[in-house]
Amino acid sequence: MLRNKYNGELRLENVGEKVSLVGWVSTRRNLGAIEFIDLRDNTGIVQLTVLDSNTVPDVRSEYVIHVTGTVAKKDVPNKKIPTGDIEVIVDTLEVINKSETTPFIIADKTDALEDTRLTYRYLDLRRPCMLNNLRTRAKIVKITHEYLDENRFLEIETPILNLATPEGARDYIVPSRLHHGSFYALPQSPQLFKQLLMIGGVERYYQIAKCFRDEDLRADRQPEFTQIDVETSFLNQEEVLTLAEGMLKRYFKEIVNYDIQLPLRRMDFWEAMDRFGSDKPDTRYGLELHDITDIMKKCDFEGFKTVNYVKCLVIPGKGKETSRKKMDELQLEANKFHIKPLMNMKVENGALAGSFTKFLSEEIKAELISALDLKEDDLVLFCSQNNRRWIDFGLGAIRTKFAKELGLIKPNTYDLLWIINFPMFEKVEETGLYSAEHHPFTRPRDEDLKYLDEDPEKVLAYAYDIVINGYEAGGGTMRIYDHDTQWKIFNLLGLSDEDVARKFGWFVDAFKYGVPPHAGFALGLERLTMILCGTDNIRDVMAFPKNLQAVDPMSKAPGATSEEALEAVGIKIREE
Ligand code: AMO
Repeated sequence: MLRNKYNGELRLENVGEKVSLVGWVSTRRNLGAIEFIDLRDNTGIVQLTVLDSNTVPDVRSEYVIHVTGTVAKKDVPNKKIPTGDIEVIVDTLEVINKSETTPFIIADKTDALEDTRLTYRYLDLRRPCMLNNLRTRAKIVKITHEYLDENRFLEIETPILNLATPEGARDYIVPSRLHHGSFYALPQSPQLFKQLLMIGGVERYYQIAKCFRDEDLRADRQPEFTQIDVETSFLNQEEVLTLAEGMLKRYFKEIVNYDIQLPLRRMDFWEAMDRFGSDKPDTRYGLELHDITDIMKKCDFEGFKTVNYVKCLVIPGKGKETSRKKMDELQLEANKFHIKPLMNMKVENGALAGSFTKFLSEEIKAELISALDLKEDDLVLFCSQNNRRWIDFGLGAIRTKFAKELGLIKPNTYDLLWIINFPMFEKVEETGLYSAEHHPFTRPRDEDLKYLDEDPEKVLAYAYDIVINGYEAGGGTMRIYDHDTQWKIFNLLGLSDEDVARKFGWFVDAFKYGVPPHAGFALGLERLTMILCGTDNIRDVMAFPKNLQAVDPMSKAPGATSEEALEAVGIKIREE
């Protein structure tokens, strides 16, 4: 037997015991004949003391070793580690495997570049903080199984090789060998299958589901990620939200010992957009957007006369220090949301200052100071737009930037809320076509069905997102369950009858055979883990993630494939 105890679990009560330990050499210090070795396994570190270093083989960092010895009380405890009251006096030490010098030191604090860490991910995972993140992730999965099992849910796997699912991103596609020119799409989510399971009478389904989306990557987005995917029949929206809340309560209690107060707050989509400039607002701080359209329409600036919206953000104490250069930087952020220009005024000596003030009468200035409750040295950032989403998202992005800069976000605090009543559609400015705000299977609110024909943008949906600390941690909807409405929504999204029949005929056909009312949601496992681990990097909560270029720096995937493999699936690569 190589091991009879785990290193990180040894305590004073083990003093006097003979132990057999294994692990990696973390550090080693030599004091003449005496040698101290920190031995690490997946539970932590214990100090080994070799009284005569001549009696044992030479070891270096990351060697795998086996030792036997006796646990002893330390004269001077090391308060920094849980095993710091004891040491193990070594009898025998045997090298199981040697290690070359690692490209970076294996410790929580590291200045290694992320691509280096990903290239040597197996070494990166030896850092205790990384292992802890994986433990938290596993705990979320375990709680999920327990909670959903207690609530009569059945775990069912759905296929990976499918026809496309319309979740809004690009599909990863897999060529078929048996049917040249035909492709499977990897699931962006199990959406269609979980609905078919409801039609199949399952009533309560869940899955820890792998999803694949070929989209631009960000700090909280990976091409391959995992959803805690749930679907139910015969529950109303409140019942579904309550079910999800029960699960969230357990995660927070069992993982970070935090009591979330239920029911969680519900906020309408448009309220979140109007006030926070986001459909996933971090409401741990204020810095809210203000609508100054009515005031600004009265000023002499021609540009404001015909616009739909003029809105602003007030940044306290940032008037003087906000330079031209800083404004250029903010403009770059604003450009992403078609906000040109982002303008500013400051409060100097109790009055509004800045080049724009020449358009403002004394009354308008006074009105602004009072409406916005402006104080000395406040910075007012303002802009106009005809598109309501753009102006809100633009100022929302700047709000988030300043919140970080002003240190408004308190660490280790949690802010959970539901965003509800999303619009059913968004009109894509460039094409004039409608796209689904969530997905095409979302049920319009009963009271809004009347607008479907004349003003689809007015239709709100039974859709809900769970937002935690400014992250969209999950989302779901009540589903359409009648054939004709489903067909009509596809039509509104620009699909002709032939398109619907060809792409979704197999799915909508099922709607002819007694569909139960159903609803569900999916939580992003990685996002939840990020929040509960306190990291803002999704790659820190995945064992083997891709980098921002969707490459695995370790294996270098994606890679070329052989001529034979391409031929088998009937594909020829075009020379560029
Ligand atoms: P949605 O597209 O909102 O809904 O996805 C649900 C949750 O999955 C997470 N998520 C991601 N996490 C990491 N990387 C990504 N690229 C990524 N994309 C999404 C988010 C998100 O809230 N079928 C519906 C759910 C339903 O209606 O039941 C769906 O997939 O946390």
